[in-house]
Amino acid sequence: MSVGGVRLAALGGKSEADLPTPGRRRDTMSMLDSKYRAVRSLTHSLAANLSAEDQMVQSCPEASPVKWHQAHTTWFFETFVLRPFLADYKPFREEFHRLFNDYYISPGEKPPEKHLRACFSRPSLDEVLAFRTYVDGEMGRLMARPVDEEASKRTMLGLNHEQQHQELMLTDIKHAFFLNPLAPAYEQGSLDGESGQGMPTLRWHGLEGGLIEIGHGEKVEDPLVFCFDNEIPRHKVYLEPFRIASRKVTCREYLEFISDDGYARAELWLSDGWETVKLTGWEAPLYWERDPADKTGWRVFTLRGWHGLSLLLDTPVCHISFFEADAFARWRGCRLPTETEWEFAASQEERSGNLLDARRLHPATAGGERVDQLFGDCWEWTASAYTGYPGYRPFPGALGECAGSFMSGQMVLRGGSCVTPADHVRATYRNFSQPWTRFRFTGMRLAA
Ligand SMILES: [Fe+2]
Repeated sequence: MSVGGVRLAALGGKSEADLPTPGRRRDTMSMLDSKYRAVRSLTHSLAANLSAEDQMVQSCPEASPVKWHQAHTTWFFETFVLRPFLADYKPFREEFHRLFNDYYISPGEKPPEKHLRACFSRPSLDEVLAFRTYVDGEMGRLMARPVDEEASKRTMLGLNHEQQHQELMLTDIKHAFFLNPLAPAYEQGSLDGESGQGMPTLRWHGLEGGLIEIGHGEKVEDPLVFCFDNEIPRHKVYLEPFRIASRKVTCREYLEFISDDGYARAELWLSDGWETVKLTGWEAPLYWERDPADKTGWRVFTLRGWHGLSLLLDTPVCHISFFEADAFARWRGCRLPTETEWEFAASQEERSGNLLDARRLHPATAGGERVDQLFGDCWEWTASAYTGYPGYRPFPGALGECAGSFMSGQMVLRGGSCVTPADHVRATYRNFSQPWTRFRFTGMRLAA
């Protein structure tokens, strides 16, 4: 088998005894097949609340229609797995190759402009769903064959890519429903139960630091162990002693910043941040709106519709930009943690939290005595610019465009959010965004 030949060459000094046994190969493919079905079916269930019209909406240039997300994630498997690895594969419809490309340059023709995606009333939602079913059938055919290591790795990459888009589907539809005067709720049921619980007192934890290692260090040659190329190589970093907050910053604390004229005091802001405040007229996080009916004077739009801020005061503040997080930290006489500090703290904690699987779809009150709430609720802005680790090498070919092509002008986000699938995030996971964006579920934690 040619694949075996490639494996042996790639393994270099390793003996054949190190290679997976046929039984292990079967297990690997059956686990991959199970994961494939689970991820694809979650996308389907996330879209089930939405009508065909809902799935057409693109409320701002940063967003994409849910129908497009469903098609684009399928395009990824067709382009990077089925076309190269299933010899008798026939594309579902050749025009989709260009239509549902995102930004990848290598696959060929330049894709249509992103801001035009809501114009694509054709193909219909039914045809996009037929595309998904067709590709699922062909992926099943591929995964029933003897294992091909590269195809397996790309399948894992495609599944992790689809999980990123699951988060984007909810992020994008939230914005669309926010702008709709009818203010539809994506999910029924209020966020009742938070009021009066009270956020635990913020505690400071001192960590020694020293010469530590960060980055993903597990055996990435195992097809079932996945990380993005931006998480490796694992490497040494010297860390000065630091203190980190036990939980994220709450809406109650952020409201104090607003009440203290935080948005009107230039001395609290980075220069670009202050320019952004003047340009945009920001006076609160995205999705906060003045509401005299609530005793705080504000209400907040969530995936479960509008809620008075008084109900959410002790939950983490969400949908703030890096500029706002940085200004708040300065106002409190603190700073944001670096990504190294964050990962060092997170590597000592359990990977659990209010993630998509909890289906709350909004940040929740934290508990616990340790450095808590690192995973889930909302991504945490760090003080670190997004660049490659020492010795960084992008995935080969077009797949290197996933993470490496964005290493300029972005800040690192860590920890996942209430719309991140639980098995997608980990301590080494590096998300990133431009410092003025607050469209995603982004919040903060203090360090000193
Ligand atoms: Fe994508």
